[in-house]
Amino acid sequence: MLKYLIFSWVLLTITMDVRSQIPTPITHSKETSIIPSPVKIVYEDVRSEIKSLIFPNNLPIDKKFLNTLFTYGKYSFAQSKKKVNVILLSQKDMAPSSYKLIIGKKRIEILASDNNGFQYALVSLAQIVQFEGFPLQCRTIEDNPAFVYRGMHLDVARHFFTVAEVKKYLDYMAYYKFNHFHWHLTDDQGWRIEIKKYPKLQEHAAYRNETLIGHYNDQPHKFDGVKYGGYYTQDEIKEVVLYAADRNITVIPEIEMPGHALAALAAYPELGCEVKKYETATKWGVFEDVFCPYDTTFRFLEGVIDEVVSLFPGKYIHIGGDECPKDSWRKSEFCQQLIKDNNLKDEHELQSYFIKKMEKYINGKGKQIIGWDEILEGGLSPNATVMSWRGVQGGIDAATLHHDVIMTPGSHCYFDYYQSENPTEPLAIGGLTTIDKVYHWNPIPESLAAENHKYILGGQSNLWSEYIHTYSGVEYMVYARGMAMSEALWSTSKNYDGFLSRFERHADFWKSKGAKVAMHIYDIKPRFKAGTGKGVELSFVTPQDANVVCTRPDQKSENLSVGSSIKIDQSGTYTFKAIKGNREGRALKLDFDLHKATQATIILDKSPSKPYEGQGPASIINGVQGSNAKYGGSEWLGFSGNDASGTIDLGKNTSINELKFRFFKGEGQWIYLPKSLEVEFSSNGEKADTTLVINDIKSDTKVAEVIVNAGVNETRFIKFRAKNYGIIPEGAQGSGHPAWLFIDEITVR
Ligand code: ACM
Repeated sequence: MLKYLIFSWVLLTITMDVRSQIPTPITHSKETSIIPSPVKIVYEDVRSEIKSLIFPNNLPIDKKFLNTLFTYGKYSFAQSKKKVNVILLSQKDMAPSSYKLIIGKKRIEILASDNNGFQYALVSLAQIVQFEGFPLQCRTIEDNPAFVYRGMHLDVARHFFTVAEVKKYLDYMAYYKFNHFHWHLTDDQGWRIEIKKYPKLQEHAAYRNETLIGHYNDQPHKFDGVKYGGYYTQDEIKEVVLYAADRNITVIPEIEMPGHALAALAAYPELGCEVKKYETATKWGVFEDVFCPYDTTFRFLEGVIDEVVSLFPGKYIHIGGDECPKDSWRKSEFCQQLIKDNNLKDEHELQSYFIKKMEKYINGKGKQIIGWDEILEGGLSPNATVMSWRGVQGGIDAATLHHDVIMTPGSHCYFDYYQSENPTEPLAIGGLTTIDKVYHWNPIPESLAAENHKYILGGQSNLWSEYIHTYSGVEYMVYARGMAMSEALWSTSKNYDGFLSRFERHADFWKSKGAKVAMHIYDIKPRFKAGTGKGVELSFVTPQDANVVCTRPDQKSENLSVGSSIKIDQSGTYTFKAIKGNREGRALKLDFDLHKATQATIILDKSPSKPYEGQGPASIINGVQGSNAKYGGSEWLGFSGNDASGTIDLGKNTSINELKFRFFKGEGQWIYLPKSLEVEFSSNGEKADTTLVINDIKSDTKVAEVIVNAGVNETRFIKFRAKNYGIIPEGAQGSGHPAWLFIDEITVR
């Protein structure tokens, strides 16, 4: 619970055992150890004489959390009634959540106007003590968050995490000054919150018969045959909400509607449009069976909301609203009549009718709704806050309509995406969201008019748990990127190199506590230079300017200093590794297959969609094939709704036997193979000498390899057009939206 600040001089003493701190202390004074980095720090060239921290007893921070914070390392502590040396001063005129932390020679002063500010100052102090040790460098920190909403989401429906694990997540969040926990409690694969009025939700909807093995895109689907499930009792929910509040974190429950409702329908089939038996989903994806907008459905959902509202004191209830296929509404006589009776245009307006009705009910309970950006379709509910996940456009549209927005675009905020291109990564849903991409993310889209910036409340990382079975999987996906996200949402002046050196200390700290932290900052990032008619060259981006050791296919090794590049002059496997002191990154293996187009130039008719631009158009003729397992990254180019087309100029007339094109297939992620592939061969770039068309492109695996038997001589220009699939069909994930087309590589022999 939030505690009021009463200055009682009953003291709590925390004594630090300075000999047992883990990381080496910072030796020079101008480097902060705090994540997220504070707005302003002014150092003094003196050390504080304080050897242990003595706080007033009634701190505005839960005692257990204080304990956790200051005993995180190997510190011991004791309570005593000695004179305080950490003084908290309430300053009414300071902005909410801001703080001033003054580490002086004899005492430490903390100034803030609210509990959040005091907590953030104490977290900063805990990190300073943890990572720098005594004696403390004297300094004054002035700090405040860039965004008021700094969220982390956890999906407990696809895989369930215990109360103890959720508390760990909240501890992590508090350590990085996040203030909203978005708890995704219901979905097709499980209902995880006890609702006393509807016991079948616990008995039935909380369980599924079995679970998909491997990736959704792997066909045929295989299942484990093991019943899976669980739910939180209302007492447990209260315990979590209280625990979060003690850390100044508001919990936002998400109750999905009208889609992602299969588990609820399995328990209460009368809420679906069709009279049939429904089963809690055993695989991932989007399902056609959704809540039918009957009066009984609204009464049911209102009953759920009544109990939810009583459990969550925060201002927001998240009602989902995403990925609701309209097929069952289209087929339902009841829905069609409802559309007519209410003068609605179509099923999208029916979805809007659904959400508006629920919003009215929830507003009547004194709460506000949040919905995923689909709630814009068919008309936005009057007071809704929009969570923009399908890119940033939903957020831009909502802010332009003067609605509050929380930014969570998949490209930067989805922590269920891969975080490295290294093939040894554990199975993930797809995509690539690297730590540096997260770090450099700005929740305010460039194209949003300045007067509407104020509607962007902040951002949030989302952790969907289809492929995350254990809490250690959560740590692996979140703990590294979460630090970058905290800085993206809090800090105003960012510095990636500074972040990396702080990250190392923080990562070591979490590892010392047994957490599994992804150490991808040591992964080397190749930068290709190709498509210029001069072959392929590589340079590297390395963490903190580490050197690179390169082993060529003939096993010869060489050291490459910072900034240097190498020419790729033979096919085969090259291995690269970043080395800095005693730290080394994982080996990066690149298989080069030099072919006739690796010496060519290339022009694309249309650029790929941000952020799936690989390393520019030449990525598809650089001699390296994109991963067979995942799209995104340096190689694959992704086009949303557009064809992949362009011209390769071989520089001189050449005979060509065969071309090989590779396309990614991931229909679960809206990625479709092209409808057709057309290739023209020309000696002058104007008139096609030969044209070949391939239709009916299919693949049983994630990558289709399309061979074009050319058999042409005297060809300099190859024009290609891979035709985008078009609009995603009914019943499929993303139906009604333009399909993605991913291409890499075009091999010419
Ligand atoms: C979402 O990822 N379906 C919000």
